[in-house]
Amino acid sequence: MKHSTSHEQIITKLRSVPIFSDLGQAELEAFSEMAQYRRYPKSAFVVNQNETGSAMFLLVTGRVKVALASPDGKELALNYLEAPAHFGEMSLVDAEPRSADVIAMTDLEVFVLDAKDLSAAIQIQPRLALSLIATLSRRLRATIGRLEELAFHDATHRVMRVVFNVATASYETRGVPVIQGLTHYDIATLAGTSRETASRVISSLAKEGVLATKGRKIVVDLIRMRERIGSD
Ligand code: CMP
Repeated sequence: MKHSTSHEQIITKLRSVPIFSDLGQAELEAFSEMAQYRRYPKSAFVVNQNETGSAMFLLVTGRVKVALASPDGKELALNYLEAPAHFGEMSLVDAEPRSADVIAMTDLEVFVLDAKDLSAAIQIQPRLALSLIATLSRRLRATIGRLEELAFHDATHRVMRVVFNVATASYETRGVPVIQGLTHYDIATLAGTSRETASRVISSLAKEGVLATKGRKIVVDLIRMRERIGSD
């Protein structure tokens, strides 16, 4: 079934993006002229690594995985992004090929902004420029942390670190230290190890009482988890 989205609905969706929430009607109208509203179904590749592309994506609803695939089919997840978020800004800024795949984990709604419209968009909302820089530096820090983990720590430690980081992010945004929507395979691809290793570490942490599996959720005791990582 094809849904069409009215102009008013598009303006409402734009207003729901935190970075645009302070814009007036005229500015939202101007932005809606240049940003294209699109939906993607779950599992779609929104961005393909190595392809050329000059647009960035503002994620309005849904969740994506940013990942690299090796030629023999192994996957390294770089990050999971949840709306509101943006991606695809790297090729837009430096005109190099896409640095990673971006895959829809749920159905998505996005606004697509082409490089030619970036300056006009920043004139409408100057905070967009700062937000792009802040995101790049936050992602670079996270990547340095990952590099450090890969270089200096074994797979067990890396799985614990992923569990701790994901549960901490959930605690900070939702008030509960829970991992949901990620399978053991997903945790393994974030830790750069096999599914078997991730499952082994998670079940031994469950036996120690550091975390508990409830259906498809993992509830983490953040204090004990931090102690456990420190003593490893
Ligand atoms: P781009 O290279 O245009 O296309 C892939 C996108 O994935 C990239 O822009 C970023 O938006 C995003 N991306 C790349 N690396 C990371 C990372 N380490 N963490 C989060 N997002 C990333």
